[in-house]
Order: sequence, then C-alpha cells, then structure tokens
Amino acid sequence: MRILRTIDEVRSAIAAARVNGDSIGLVPTMGAFHEGHLSLMRAARAAHDLVVVSLFVNPTQFGQNEDLGSYPRDEARDAALADAEGIDILFVPAADEIYPDGFATTIHVSGVTDVLCGASRGPRHFDGVATVVAKLFAIVAPDAAFFGQKDAQQVLVVRRLVRDLNLPVEVVACPIVREPDGLAMSSRNIYLDADARERATALNRALTAADDAAGAGARDAGEILAAARAILDAAGVDPEYLELRDADDLREVARVDGDALLAVAARVGAARLIDNHILRGGA
Ligand code: PAF
Repeated sequence: MRILRTIDEVRSAIAAARVNGDSIGLVPTMGAFHEGHLSLMRAARAAHDLVVVSLFVNPTQFGQNEDLGSYPRDEARDAALADAEGIDILFVPAADEIYPDGFATTIHVSGVTDVLCGASRGPRHFDGVATVVAKLFAIVAPDAAFFGQKDAQQVLVVRRLVRDLNLPVEVVACPIVREPDGLAMSSRNIYLDADARERATALNRALTAADDAAGAGARDAGEILAAARAILDAAGVDPEYLELRDADDLREVARVDGDALLAVAARVGAARLIDNHILRGGA
C-alpha cells in the first residue's frame, strides 16, 4: 500500500491505473478505523481493481463546540489496518492540501440537510461534508464511493450532490456494523466510559422496539416512535432527535406505508451518537 499526501501524487497514480483500464473505488474516511470502515474497504476491494482510502479529519464539517481537537487520530494504526485489507492507496492530505490559502468555495445541498443532523449540528456540518466529498471525487475520480449507512443522512446528501452535479460516481451504502450488543460502531464510541457504554445500547434497542411495533402492524408514526422513546427514557437517554422520515427525501412521515428512516441522535456521556433503522412499511 502506498501512502500519498498530495493531490498531484494521487492524480498520477489514478492516471496510471486508468491506462491499465482499472476501475477505481474510493472509501472516504476520517480515520480511527473500526470494523465499519473495514467493511467499506472490503466492499470496495471486492468490486474494484484499485482502491483508494482517504484519511482526512475534515475541519469544515465540525461545529465550533464539536470534537475536532479531540477526534481520535492514529495514522500508523489506520495505515496498518488498511494495508491488511489490501488497500492500494491511503491518501492522507494535510489540511492546507485540501483547503489552501484563499479557498473560497462551499457546496450547499439544500432540502435533505435541513433536518436531523443538519438541524441539530447546524448547516455547516453538511456543507463541510458535501464540499470535501466533492473535492475527493474531483481528485480521485472514482467509479464508485463507499459510505456507511450509519450516516444515513450523509448518504442521501452525497447521492443528491452526485445527481445534481452529474458526477459519474456510483454511491454505495454499506450496512451498519454493530458490536455484539447492538451498539453501532463509531469512532466516537471511544469517548464512552463504562456507564455510558452500557446506556448507549439503548439507541439500537429503541430502534429495534420501534421495528417490532411496526412488524406487529403499527403504522402510526406516533405509536412507533413511542415504542422507541420508552426504551430511551428507561435508559435515561434524552435524544437530540428521534424521528421517522421518508427514506429517500427525509420528509416527515405520519404513517409508515413505504420505507421510512427511523433515526436517532443522542448525547450519551461524552459522546454524541447516531443510529438508524429502515422500517419497511410496505412489506
Ligand atoms: O463519514 C465520514 O467519515 C466523513 O463525513 C467523510 C464522508 C469522510 C467526509 O469527511
């Protein structure tokens, strides 16, 4: 595996691969790899000749009071894990490689960014995500890019970006990877102390309770959300949001008749966690 730090180096490597007729998969990450990231790398590795993983803790997607300074960083560990997955290129740019002096462009995807994390973290978050993802697509020019479904809203934002800007990139969403007790894997789980780690399991348990209610025939959003809310209340978890929305455009749904995204965000101890399930109302 090659570790490349400049856009020019990546472009040269991509140009050489294209001469060979290689297909290119991109896994954009902020590092601190866990099984979720590795599952994206495996999916990209299985489908493409050349796989690029980007490792960049993107400052523009963090709010002022968020964890940019403390976000876990361990390039050597991440590089060893990516290498073990057979990744070809780890792209690790410095901040000024991505955002040189005078950088003045922001991509704003409207609509799907107005709710859920867009509302609770503020518009800066998805502007930062859309801008850096657009840059990574421009630098790597991948055939496909792999994202985790845990960040369901991010996947929708990237899909909209790709569609609206006619970018020739397939957006692949990979399933959420969970700990044995159901907690969705996240780089931020390391912020959890023992008590918070235990309470954090309430997120997936709440979503499962809602799934069960829908499976038992409940269609009313209020009834389904109440089943989830009861589990969070019992664990003393006060969500930033717990909402049922259309799985494609994030419009609020009053009844679950088609696919609906049940999404939750909560501060548990020192970590802000998100999780989601897709409820299959049509089934
Ligand atoms: O999901 C992430 O890790 C980040 O939001 C991404 C897509 C790498 C952009 O910085």
